[in-house]
Formats: sequence, structure tokens, C-alpha cells
Amino acid sequence: EKGGYQHFMLKEIHEQPKAVQETLSRRIDSKTGDIRLDGISLTMEDLQKLTKIVIVACGTAYHAGLVGKYLIEKFARIPVEVDIASEFRYRDPFVDEHTLFIAVSQSGETLDTLMSLREAKSKGARILSIVNVVGSSVARESDDVFYTWAGPEIAVASTKAYTTQLICFYLLALYMGRLKGTVSDDSYRMMMRELNALPEKIQRILDRSKDIEKLAELLYNRTQVFYIGRGLDSAVAYEGSLKLKEISYINSFAIAAGELKHGTIALMEPETTVIALATQDRLFDKMYSNIEEVKARHAHIVTLVKEGHDVKDISTEVITIPNCTDEVAPVLSVVPLQLFAYYVARAKGENIDKPRNLAKSVTVE
Ligand code: F6R
Repeated sequence: EKGGYQHFMLKEIHEQPKAVQETLSRRIDSKTGDIRLDGISLTMEDLQKLTKIVIVACGTAYHAGLVGKYLIEKFARIPVEVDIASEFRYRDPFVDEHTLFIAVSQSGETLDTLMSLREAKSKGARILSIVNVVGSSVARESDDVFYTWAGPEIAVASTKAYTTQLICFYLLALYMGRLKGTVSDDSYRMMMRELNALPEKIQRILDRSKDIEKLAELLYNRTQVFYIGRGLDSAVAYEGSLKLKEISYINSFAIAAGELKHGTIALMEPETTVIALATQDRLFDKMYSNIEEVKARHAHIVTLVKEGHDVKDISTEVITIPNCTDEVAPVLSVVPLQLFAYYVARAKGENIDKPRNLAKSVTVE
């Protein structure tokens, strides 16, 4: 049942090229190359009525929502808020009939997410959900469902559900942007090329898993790991950090790199490991300075960059991902971080598929 893999988590990490391909092919017309939202009603009229979009989720799904906000605001130019379900539902949020509420959930059974959905619905919002489990509670109670089609995810730590949730956000954001005319034909075509190239690029990262395994074996006894990044990299930093702490029990922490100097940099010591994500070309120089700041505190720095960037001077170790446009980098950069968390937990001998204190779907408040 684990298809020759030692754990479901590793199997599911390796299923990502196929899962991402599936999410894409379900929504892209093979003849015209256009995005089809069959079954989801998002007309020009619907979009004109919208004043904002609210994305609500928990954990890893929330981290996908952080990327979703960036994509929708960039491509569709609609204001987006992202919130954690257990916060959203108790804060009397501003939601009305001009709001599109997007729930993101692998299981479709997370109680806080479901209750937030009901809260938004009672205030008149349209409900669209990005869900993996077909026919789950969140799916049933939504006006429209954008299935991730990742296939069953068994390991408690979410991997392929996250990458396919990201794909849904790319497709949704580009679809809306095209309809509204906020995405030019050229950038639309460029983005479609970039999306279609992802399965093969993820595969290339997986083919080099050995490098990450070695890195994990070098660092598994570290006690404090920071993940830093800017822009989309900050969203991926949160996800990488959650993966590590939930299965390896190492105290890990993610922070937007520009925020470090406002307090957290006080924690840097020579023993500290910093995983610095620097995949965003537009922010590269700024990120470079942030890495120099932590290097000055003698932290052990692992820098994650696109191929061709020279960061040896400021890094103890370097992880590379295939070249891509900045917007799609999260789908690639998360993969080495998933592998890193997996191999660290394995080196520590932890129960990877069923980490302590955690359940696959959280149906309590
Ligand atoms: C982390 C993880 C959790 C879930 C969260 C939401 O690896 O799996 O953080 O993402 O509990 O679950 P769903 O997506 O089922 O609503």
C-alpha cells in the first residue's frame, strides 16, 4: 500500500508530479490550453459584484491561502484577506453578499473551517471551497467546489494536498484575471507554460533527494531552526517550518525576513540553523542583505535559490530548485523543505506518518 516507500509521507511527496499534473489537466482544455472552471460559476457579472475575497483555513491549508492571496491580488486585482479559521469565526468579520469566501481544506471536515464557512454563508457570502475529499462536509455546504484531485492523503503531515491547493489558486487567479482583463495575453500564456512545466521540475527535485537526505543527516540534532523569506518565500517559510516541527519535534520558527531585525534576530547564535529562501528575483537583493545579517551572528545558513544564483559567500549549504518565474516558485521550493523535514524525522527515528498529539482531520474546536 505504500508502493515500496518506507512511509506514506515519502510516497505522497513523490506523488506530487502526478498530483499536480492531474489538478492541471482537470482544468485546462487540452485543445485550446484555456482554463475551464466547469461547474464553478464565476462570470464577469459575479466578479463585478465582488468587493473582496476572504480565504479561511487552518494549518497547511492556511499557508496555501497566503500564496492564494498574493496570486489573486496580483493577477485579478481583487483585495484578499486570509485568516485562520479559529480566529475568523470569533471576530465578527466584515462579510456580506459582495464577498467571495474561499475555504481551503484537504479533508473538508476541519470543524473550525466548516464553522467559518457557515458564519460567512449566514452573512450572505458566496462560498467556494478548495477541497481534496470529494463529498466532504465543506464540499457539500459550498456553492462551488474546486477539487484538488490529489488522491487520498494518508500521512498526517500534508504534502501533495498543499501543492495541489496552490495549483487551484493559480488557476483561479489567472481565470479571474483573464476575465477581468487584468492579465495580458502574454503573461497569461507565459504563466500557463510555467504551470505546465511544474510536474517535470518537481520530478527533477525529487531525483536529487539524496542531497537533501545528506543535509538532513548533518543537521538532525539541531535544536532550533528558523525559516526566513520575503514575499512568496515567506509563505513557503511558514509551511517548511510547520512540516519540520510537526514530524521531527524540533523547535522551528518562520518569519518574514524583513521583520527579523525587529526582535527575533536576538535569538541568533552560532548553533542556530537558518533556512533562507531566496527564490524571488524581485526581492533577491533585499533577501541577500537579510542573510548577511544572520551570517554576521554566525548562524548555520542553508540558502534555497533558483539554479544559477551564486550565494556561496553567505551560505553554509545551498539547495537549488529549477529555474522558473517567481510566481510559481512556491510549488517547487516547498518540495526540498518537505524532504528535509521527512529525512530529519527519519534520522531521529520518529513515527513520521503518525506524529504525536496530531490527528489527520481535526473535528474538534
Ligand atoms: C499539517 C497539516 C495540518 C492541516 C490542517 C487543516 O501538515 O496537515 O496543518 O493542514 O489541520 O486540515 P484540512 O486541510 O484537512 O482542513
